[in-house]
Amino acid sequence: MKDSRYNSFFLIHNGLRTVLFETAIQLQQSDLSDPQCTTTEQVEDILSMFESHAHGEDHFFNEPLEEKDSRISNMFLKEHEEDHRLGQVLSDLINQWKNANDHQERSTVGRNLLYAFNEFIAFNLYHMNKEEIELNAVLWAHYSDEEIKATEQALVQQVPPDKMMRYAKWMMRGNNDEELYHWLKEVQLFAPQEVFNGLFKIAQEELPAERFHQLQLKLETQKVA
Ligand SMILES: [Fe+2]
Repeated sequence: MKDSRYNSFFLIHNGLRTVLFETAIQLQQSDLSDPQCTTTEQVEDILSMFESHAHGEDHFFNEPLEEKDSRISNMFLKEHEEDHRLGQVLSDLINQWKNANDHQERSTVGRNLLYAFNEFIAFNLYHMNKEEIELNAVLWAHYSDEEIKATEQALVQQVPPDKMMRYAKWMMRGNNDEELYHWLKEVQLFAPQEVFNGLFKIAQEELPAERFHQLQLKLETQKVA
């Protein structure tokens, strides 16, 4: 069922869920005893994406919410602290993995890395659901959709363009045609041309040809988001 109110977290969370799911499979298929294995780099990339994402949510949503509902504001700030702790466990393990002396040690640390990544996924799946259900309910009670969209705009604008494109890759992979159309149409209508061009290029790279073709057609022919 679609929310009747604006869910500011949905597109980006679908992107983040997708990178977690895809990396989980990749990690299981990787030979982590091999020092050349690059899956750990993708885990580091995930940590950097989740860290900035949580920081943006804290600064733009959770901290200002303190004056309206301090219990919910603190609950989500605390969850981000736990998220950071789980990320730190992972980055410590990645360092151990990089510095392992032999095949056996790398393999053992690699197994622990897989378990720690699963804990990170499990926590974040619950956490993102909770933001979309409990945090949204409180945001909706205190702010209009226009205010929430304006906050989201301010949040998006402080993300450096290269980082935005890294999120965008997973958002393209993780959202359905309808969501992608609304997102890109809004960008086409209201953002600078180069932002739209950058996203359009990622859509072309990430979507299957037929889905991309339909999206392109709709963006060319329909006038409203
Ligand atoms: Fe969050």
